[in-house]
Amino acid sequence: MTDNVIETDVLILGAGMAGLTCALSLPEGLRVMMVSKVPMPTGSTYLAQGGLAAAVSEEDSFQLHLRDTVEAGAGLVNEEVALEIIEGGPRLVMQLARWGAELEGASGGGKSGIEGGHSVRRVLHHKDRTGRLISEVLSERCFEKGNIRIIQPACAVNLLTASREMPELVDGGMDRCIGAHILHDGTISTVLAGETVIATGGAGKVYRYTSNQDSATGDGIAMAYRAGLPIRNMEFYQFHPTCLFHPEKRNFLVTEALRGEGAILLNLEGERFMENYDPERMELAPRDIVARAIDSEMKRLGNDHVLLDASRLGRDKLTASFPEVTDGVTSVGIIPWEEPIPVVPAAHYIVGGIDAATDGTTLMNGLRAIGEASCTGFHGANRLGSNSLLEAGVMGLKAADSIPGTVMRPSDFHARDWSFGRAEPLRENVLVDHAWAAIRSVMWDYVGIVRSDNKLHRALRLIDVLADEVEEDYWSLLPVTGLLELRNICTVSRAIIMSALRRRESRGLHFNMDCPEPHQPPRDTLIRLTL
Ligand code: FUM
Repeated sequence: MTDNVIETDVLILGAGMAGLTCALSLPEGLRVMMVSKVPMPTGSTYLAQGGLAAAVSEEDSFQLHLRDTVEAGAGLVNEEVALEIIEGGPRLVMQLARWGAELEGASGGGKSGIEGGHSVRRVLHHKDRTGRLISEVLSERCFEKGNIRIIQPACAVNLLTASREMPELVDGGMDRCIGAHILHDGTISTVLAGETVIATGGAGKVYRYTSNQDSATGDGIAMAYRAGLPIRNMEFYQFHPTCLFHPEKRNFLVTEALRGEGAILLNLEGERFMENYDPERMELAPRDIVARAIDSEMKRLGNDHVLLDASRLGRDKLTASFPEVTDGVTSVGIIPWEEPIPVVPAAHYIVGGIDAATDGTTLMNGLRAIGEASCTGFHGANRLGSNSLLEAGVMGLKAADSIPGTVMRPSDFHARDWSFGRAEPLRENVLVDHAWAAIRSVMWDYVGIVRSDNKLHRALRLIDVLADEVEEDYWSLLPVTGLLELRNICTVSRAIIMSALRRRESRGLHFNMDCPEPHQPPRDTLIRLTL
């Protein structure tokens, strides 16, 4: 064994809700290694304002939560999967409280919030800093545990598979994951693991405007795709209707919970335009409908944003219940109880991902995918707000349940060390920066909220050219996180476009002007790299 080889029983890539709940629930006899690209607490979980949907109050039921999830999901929700995840909610909420993250509304009493598409109050929260509480508390618990080793900042490069390294472990055509190459401290380690869990979250950085952190580059999805795993329904990218529109503060979410409490949307002519798009549900229609309505108003009036008027909630309510939004917007001079907040839709959540069961198991032995990086069928074609923390946490618990106390011994595995070959340091940052900006612009302009065949074909041609250049750089330059991320957003962008081209209909989050109607029966889109 060389210095660069590390052995662990379970390797968890990612440190958001899914990775944290999984790590904390694994048997203490297992050595767990958790890899986080940015120092913890981090990830989309940290930024989650609204909360965690769970049917725990007396006026709610699993069936009611299922009905709302199915309705939002536009015909593609797998009901069996959805019920399993919804039923896992109470256990998750109790476990979070045991770890020290107690959510408002967890014991009923009308304290939970409401968001678009939910027919009752079921969004458990901690003011509008729900994700921050969960991330901080669970990260702290992980740091305390003797069996969890945290490597940060570090970035996974590629999965190590039996088909490439130890063909004797391929079982009846089913490949096995034996770990990953990990970049940290300027070197690449070969991490051999009995079980590997991808919990790397979403890919908002694929788009020019996003509510996500800079680290959301779809790394897990891209690695799994390159390793030959099927990825599902990638065309369904959720755009959050209301991100702050301000030159000094980008990527800042203005939670949907504000609309749940009465904030309204206005166009720049002062009209409450949702009346023309969904007169019954208005601002609380599912996100795909609200985001498309905003897009349409901006295009109709030639504006680059709309307004969210939360002034009717009043100063006391805004400061007490929405401190994150209030602090965020006042920091750039907007007084939310006196004036409307300028907002614009931005890429928020990838509904598609690595095809996985509710316990994260995939078509590769020894590899699980959980949380936003996975696609179980729970969200169908459109995710109901606050269903993602639920899914991520329940999957984390289930993945841990499914990993036996004794896993395959990593000491029995071997893999080739990373070869730097003749790679040279990156001397011209512009190579990476230009490709980043170009990919994100192509995706925003051609593969956004409203698509067309022409724009999708154009996007594919442009991304293909960029992908060739990025691949050249990947092989000729010494690896650095920015370059690895660039390669990943390239892979994920291609996957989104290819899936969008395959879906010859409009459904949920995917709207193509050239085929505006849904087709029956609803079908998933699966794409897989032929190795
Ligand atoms: O609006 C929000 O607070 C976002 C919630 C979510 O995406 O689940």
